[in-house]
Amino acid sequence: MASMFRLATPSAHLQLLVAMLRNPGSTGTLLPSSRALANALASAADGADLVVELGAGTGPVTDALLTRLPGVPLIAVELQAALAQRLRHRYPSMDVREATARQVVDSLFDRPGRIVLVSSLPFRSLPAHVASETAHSLCRFLAHSPERKLVQFTYHPRAPFAAPRHLRWKRTSVIWRNTPPAGIWELRLAP
Ligand SMILES: C[S@@+](CC[C@H](N)C(=O)[O-])C[C@H]1O[C@@H](n2cnc3c(N)ncnc32)[C@H](O)[C@@H]1O
Repeated sequence: MASMFRLATPSAHLQLLVAMLRNPGSTGTLLPSSRALANALASAADGADLVVELGAGTGPVTDALLTRLPGVPLIAVELQAALAQRLRHRYPSMDVREATARQVVDSLFDRPGRIVLVSSLPFRSLPAHVASETAHSLCRFLAHSPERKLVQFTYHPRAPFAAPRHLRWKRTSVIWRNTPPAGIWELRLAP
């Protein structure tokens, strides 16, 4: 089955390259996340009742989440149709949403429980209005409950985006085995 998949679909690197050429601002990178980065993001979701992966792309973080958290419901959100299709092909029983992060997060606003948003969204390269509307939606979602958090990586030294004072960013680690090295940040209600 795995070898059929390899024959039927282009490699993750090629597909991300094509996505980057078509939508550079939304794609944000030429290289998928390394296994080290994907594993670190997945471990930050330990204890979740529901994981929502934002910007799943070709699926390296999805793989790590499924391995680390078997049995935990996972929604994978991917805006670009070809990439969402790749995820559906690869994980036929997974809940894949071809939608914006904002649409999906807003739709889950009233959902109870420990919800972890694991995001690869490239906030620094997204069109400015998309970045600010998405950040606003995520902050509103997090402010609703202390049981919610956002896990986000960035290649930059500063926090991924500015958050209101009632939420607090914390950089939890730096993953050097990634090109380029990436900081992992968590955002949740301030204590
Ligand atoms: C930096 S790539 C990360 C891909 C993959 N998660 C990884 O770590 O290699 C960012 C992904 O976010 C997707 N994306 C960008 N804006 C989005 C949005 N508003 N809603 C959902 N997905 C979005 C892009 O299509 C792209 O696949």
